Amino acid sequence: MKREIKKAVRFLKQGGLVCFPTETVYGLGARLFDEQALQKIFKVKNRPMDNPLIVHISDPKELKMLTQNFPKSAFKLIEKFWPGPLTLVCKKSPQVPAMASAGLKTVAIRMPNHKTALELIRALGEPIAAPSANISGRPSSTRYQDVVRELGDKVNLVLKGEQSELGLESTVLDVSRLPFRVLRPGFVTLEELKEVLPNICLAAKGKSKLALSPGIKHQHYKPNCKVVLVEPQNWEETLEEWQNQKIRLGVFSYSKKIPNFKNIVFNKMFHGNKLEMAKQLYSYFYDAEKAKVQTLLVETIEQKGIGLAFMDRLKRASA
Ligand code: TXA
Ligand code: MG
Repeated sequence: MKREIKKAVRFLKQGGLVCFPTETVYGLGARLFDEQALQKIFKVKNRPMDNPLIVHISDPKELKMLTQNFPKSAFKLIEKFWPGPLTLVCKKSPQVPAMASAGLKTVAIRMPNHKTALELIRALGEPIAAPSANISGRPSSTRYQDVVRELGDKVNLVLKGEQSELGLESTVLDVSRLPFRVLRPGFVTLEELKEVLPNICLAAKGKSKLALSPGIKHQHYKPNCKVVLVEPQNWEETLEEWQNQKIRLGVFSYSKKIPNFKNIVFNKMFHGNKLEMAKQLYSYFYDAEKAKVQTLLVETIEQKGIGLAFMDRLKRASA
């Protein structure tokens, strides 16, 4: 891995793009301080220019250079959740290129909890700006092979890693003003955040004309098949309705039995295991595509704890 990291650093210093594993999903990285390289990220992902990137750091000390008026109370969150799946939106310092923050006055920062990601940032000696490693609108990539297939020919290098341990993106929390607000639900739950700072709340949806988290308004996480959400109380009835359709069906169940209908060509059961469900969602989306599923029926779960982030992604995938 040392040699691969060296190679990656060389590419980054030359203005190239490197995909790397993190504990949440794979990232598509460039040097934060290279505006041309940042531009390449947007181009390769076909990402709308108004959707800012996350800056990945390897030490909370780097906050000082990247932010202004960083709130003291947010250090409590850092102590508890860094390195890990929590991204903090902070007032940015002038050093942060406008391209990374899409022209906003804030910048999103996270310290990933992943050996390779941290080694890469440390070896480069600078922060790495990285959105998730997927074409905009597609599911995020949680496996090396998914990154290679989706982006391999568009970047300089994909660093190899295991399947992402968590599988769902980080929670994006705005700490640039009070009260601190969750802009994107993610692996760290609202309940866990509130245990540290009870005043943290969810950002109100669609209330403000100003897009709080620009990414939220764009289409997201869609596999190449129709995703249909099925509430548990309608499960048997809905599946029967699909039984006689000449459609290649996929079925993901959280708690229910999956019948053996002939047209079900791909099925996955989570056996009530929420961590497993979060970890596998994107990889199973891609596997369902491979199985040429036309319609994917997915059992919904309660929107609390990790269920909030899971349902957020599912709703976008099915919109
Ligand atoms: O787990 C993760 O967060 C992964 C890994 C690679 O770290 N990254 C990721 O990045 O999911 P991306 O680009 O797919 O999502 C970043 C989200 C978007 O919704 C974006 O709008 C939001 O963070 N964001 C970034 N900067 C922001 C800012 N200054 N203000 C509000 N939202 C911001
Ligand atoms: Mg993304």
